[in-house]
Order: sequence, then C-alpha cells, then structure tokens
Amino acid sequence: MKKAVSIWHEGDARWIVIARDPDKPGHVIDTNEYLFSAGGESLLVDPGGIEIFPAVFAAISAECDPGTIRSIFASHQDPDIISSLALWLEFNPAIRCHLSWLWASFIPHFGGSGETFVALPDEGGDVTVGGRSLRAIPAHYLHSSGNFHLYDPHARVLFSGDVGAALLPPDQQGLFVEDFDRHIRHAEGFHRRWMGSNAAKLDWCERVSRLDVDMLMPQHGAIYRGADVGRFIDWFSQLEVGVLRAPPAASDSRKAA
Ligand SMILES: [Fe+2]
Ligand SMILES: [Fe+2]
Repeated sequence: MKKAVSIWHEGDARWIVIARDPDKPGHVIDTNEYLFSAGGESLLVDPGGIEIFPAVFAAISAECDPGTIRSIFASHQDPDIISSLALWLEFNPAIRCHLSWLWASFIPHFGGSGETFVALPDEGGDVTVGGRSLRAIPAHYLHSSGNFHLYDPHARVLFSGDVGAALLPPDQQGLFVEDFDRHIRHAEGFHRRWMGSNAAKLDWCERVSRLDVDMLMPQHGAIYRGADVGRFIDWFSQLEVGVLRAPPAASDSRKAA
C-alpha cells in the first residue's frame, strides 16, 4: 500500500508525498503523487494512473480529508500522470484540472467536461490554493511538448515532473536522495532518452537556478534536498540529451516516463 508522508508544513499549509507501493505490480512504473494543502483546500499534483487510484485515495485518506481536493495539476499528458482523472471526477465532479493549453483538448479523453479544465498559457501562471499562490513553471519538451513544473515560493519546493526522475533498484527505495553519485546513475539513461532537447534543458536549468529551491520533487524516484538540488541542476545541464544524440540502443527502449 502506498503511504502519504508529510515533507513540509507551516501552520495549516503542508506538502505531502504519496510514494512507494510495495504491492504495485512490477509491470507498472512507480510514481510519486504530491498533495499541497492550505486554508482547508488541497491541490493534487500529478494524481497518477487509473490502476493506482485506490492506493492513492486510501493513502491520502489516512492523512487528510480527500474532500478538500478542489483542483488537480497535470504536468503533462502521460497516462502515469493523469489517466486517473475520471475516477477523481467521479469522487468530486467539481474538481478543476490545471494543465498546458496544448493538452486541453487531449486530456478530456481521460474524462471531464468543458468546465473541468483550466488551460495554462506557454509562459505559465499562478495556481491558487487556499489563498496561497503556486507558480506553474514552463518545462516544455522535458519531456512533453506542453509541460509544466510547479513552484511554491513560500515552501521553496519545486515539483519537477519527469525531470529528476530515477528508476531505483529494490535496495534503494528511500524517499530522499542520500548519496547523489550513487543515485544519479539510476537517472542517467532515463534523462538521455526521455528529455527531447538540449536547448530546452539549458533553458530550464537557467530558469530554475534563479529560484530558491530547498527540495526538488520528481514524479519518479527520490526527492533532492539542499545541496543535491544544485548538484542535480549542474549534472543535468551537462548531460547530452535528445535529438542530437545517436538513436538509442535497443536495450534503452523499455524505460518508461
Ligand atoms: Fe512523462
Ligand atoms: Fe512520468
């Protein structure tokens, strides 16, 4: 069963991660879901796939009232991000889903009505939860052509979608990165294959370097804290990714995002 763990709190505001499901079937990639709550409202960040909805719902219910979830943030269109949308809307049809304008007519294939979706322009914008403003940060082509990360300037945390993701072996399932050099080996193949553009990567590194970030929270793998945030940005800026590389070897083809 997945577990919800509080990773930041101040007054009535908090960030929770829902991670690590030992009961998950091996053919499904492991994902992290995040919940931000403030002022009696909650925002669910990349709620995950349809098959893990019961585990995510149960984990959230153990920590807080899922009835406080008023909105969903979808970083991009992948099934491991948002294919559970219809089930969340069955629970509460009033939930609103913030997403790139590029996917606003595609993600409705997973569910929702004309009122469900709040389209973000390419430059991003604010998402308000309980009177607090979170910022949708452009991360286009990393890996999706319409892609946003979510920054909380008060908590100094950045949800980074598939950027920072690592496919960790069974003996490295910690919630946080503890040994950067050991950890990053499990991120390299993923980033080389899934991140589509060196120009987009450098743009993101430059943009994120200007933010104060205490925690960088990816959708797969472990969370980077403190100095490891800067280490990751430096590592990513130097990694050759995307279309200028030679075609991937056949052994790379099973890596999901
Ligand atoms: Fe993805
Ligand atoms: Fe993903």
